[in-house]
Amino acid sequence: MVERTLWWPVAAADEVGGAPLAVTLLGQALVLWRDDQGQVHALADRCPHRGARLSLGTVVAGQLQCPYHGWRFDGSGRCRAIPALPGFPPPSSHAASRYPLTQAHGMLWVCLGEPACPVPPALPDLPPRRVLHGPFDVATSAARAVENFLDTAHFAFVHEGWLGDAGHAEVPHHALAYTADGRPVVPDYPAWQPRATARAQTGAWVRYRYEVLSPFAALLQKQPEGDAPADAYVMWACPVGDEGCRVWFAQHTTDTTTPEAALRDFQAAIFAQDRPILESQSPKRLPIHGGEAMCAADRLSAAYRRYLRELGITVGVC
Ligand code: FES
Ligand SMILES: [Fe+2]
Repeated sequence: MVERTLWWPVAAADEVGGAPLAVTLLGQALVLWRDDQGQVHALADRCPHRGARLSLGTVVAGQLQCPYHGWRFDGSGRCRAIPALPGFPPPSSHAASRYPLTQAHGMLWVCLGEPACPVPPALPDLPPRRVLHGPFDVATSAARAVENFLDTAHFAFVHEGWLGDAGHAEVPHHALAYTADGRPVVPDYPAWQPRATARAQTGAWVRYRYEVLSPFAALLQKQPEGDAPADAYVMWACPVGDEGCRVWFAQHTTDTTTPEAALRDFQAAIFAQDRPILESQSPKRLPIHGGEAMCAADRLSAAYRRYLRELGITVGVC
């Protein structure tokens, strides 16, 4: 399963504080916790003793303590203490399963197997002001969620009066390109937007650039005409399972004056428009082998599905 060789975002770095955090990746329950050096670790969320959830436990003296009988585990998963047997050195067979974890782009990334690539996807230079929106738990596959992020034909309907307008429903011809490693890119897409950003007062033409970063991550760069602020959104989707995902949007903007609360309200409003449609789609897995009608306006969707096929992705697709 190729998914087990890739890094996936499971939480924003600042979501893991003093208490353990339960997350799910590819159907695997994980506990994330921070030791007294500030290092975050990912263990299977199951105690090797009697199967209790370690995420219900506490961090004590830099070790994760199980809530049931108090066994303590270090960052490698090794059991360090069994309170019922003081002085007994726990054998290595009493270890909790541990997974590789790394931090990049303000997110924590886990690989469930041997990582085939050293790091999460690289990002180009983006505006320095960054606001992370999410997490949003969505009852559909990560692939459906990413395809929606890449789709422009829904603007005039789902986001009418915001990102689209019924009088501008046409998807203009636009070029499709690929990175050297085969990721789809739309270098330039013109969109008429009644309210493109939190600050916009009037409609404007906005140039969009899309880049698929990895199977369930994509970058959108928005450049309005004139001197209006430019925005970039990186969408990170965690494949929780075949029919569920957790999504974040990292907004990078040259807008230094709009309060963060207004940026958050805008993004929440946009995603609230997408969510009911996303969760209504059937099947929840993305049909990458045919079975849905495609038209010429769906070029980027078609390229994204082909990219997933070529990678051999199996989670959340059919
Ligand atoms: S179940 Fe965890 S210590 Fe017993
Ligand atoms: Fe949308």
